[in-house]
Amino acid sequence: MAANKNFKILVTVTGLPVDRLREFGTVVQWNELGNPTSQELLELVKDCDALFCHGSNKIDKELLDAAPKLKVIGTYSVGYNHIDLEECKKRGLKIGYTPGETTEVAAEFGVGLLLATARRIPEANEASKDPVNVRFHGYLMSGKQIMDTTIGFFGLGAIGSSMLEKLAPFRPARFIYHNRSRKENCLAEYVSFDELVKESDFLIVTAALTPETTGKFDKDVFAKMKKGAIFVNISRGPLVKTEDIYDALKSGHLEAAGLDVTDPEPLPKGHPLLALKNCIVTPHIASATYRARNRMNDLTIANIINGLTGKPMLAPLLE
Ligand code: DGY
Repeated sequence: MAANKNFKILVTVTGLPVDRLREFGTVVQWNELGNPTSQELLELVKDCDALFCHGSNKIDKELLDAAPKLKVIGTYSVGYNHIDLEECKKRGLKIGYTPGETTEVAAEFGVGLLLATARRIPEANEASKDPVNVRFHGYLMSGKQIMDTTIGFFGLGAIGSSMLEKLAPFRPARFIYHNRSRKENCLAEYVSFDELVKESDFLIVTAALTPETTGKFDKDVFAKMKKGAIFVNISRGPLVKTEDIYDALKSGHLEAAGLDVTDPEPLPKGHPLLALKNCIVTPHIASATYRARNRMNDLTIANIINGLTGKPMLAPLLE
């Protein structure tokens, strides 16, 4: 059957090869570095049938009202907290996403970020640029060892569980977790949120952003954490109160943090958190490998094409 060539499809992600979509109509691809502003997005989406978006694009009532022809959304992400699902449901929209493609790669990154934070790798790299900074002394660039420590997970879904498996060979004394549901046959022990916070030497956040988890890590929680603990967030920035983690790091109560996600994201230039030596900030790149990004792209394109042509999506979130 000949493909309908009349659809208009907006792709908000720069740099991805999306030629397959052109077989189905006109593709408008955002070509600037950085994200379109909400205003630009409203303008771009208004006569589109399909939207290829990502986690930084807010898909809310205002945007949906501005796009009366919109039938299909393919988000280039496994997370969907940027999409108002209720509003989409009311309008009968189909939504596809990219579960599975990011699990392993995000877990690999989480381990890397934890090691880089614990062993001060970016700081050591920076210091090595001038031999004066790295004159040897007994504790030069010393950090925290994983062996014999307690590693805690806030949220233990697919990414957290994969990270746990990858960290097991480092031989921590104990894994603990706090999650919405308890896991069967799990290497980690379920504990209350309070225990998790008080007992973890490394606290890793891999929980989804929900109304319950928003702002969960605030000054009271950081104060309860062990002095010298390390905090890693590869979930979503708004789980953590930015000023409060800044204070906990600045005072030295927390030894260090590795944050792949922040609130706001990205942090504005010159933000105080970026000046802290004991904080590694990366720009939400846990799933950024060529392999994962290509697979996410292929899946998003297939979801959109199937959605537009009345076939079941490969990875539906709403159908
Ligand atoms: C995801 O896939 O949700 C990642 O966080 C990238 O947005």
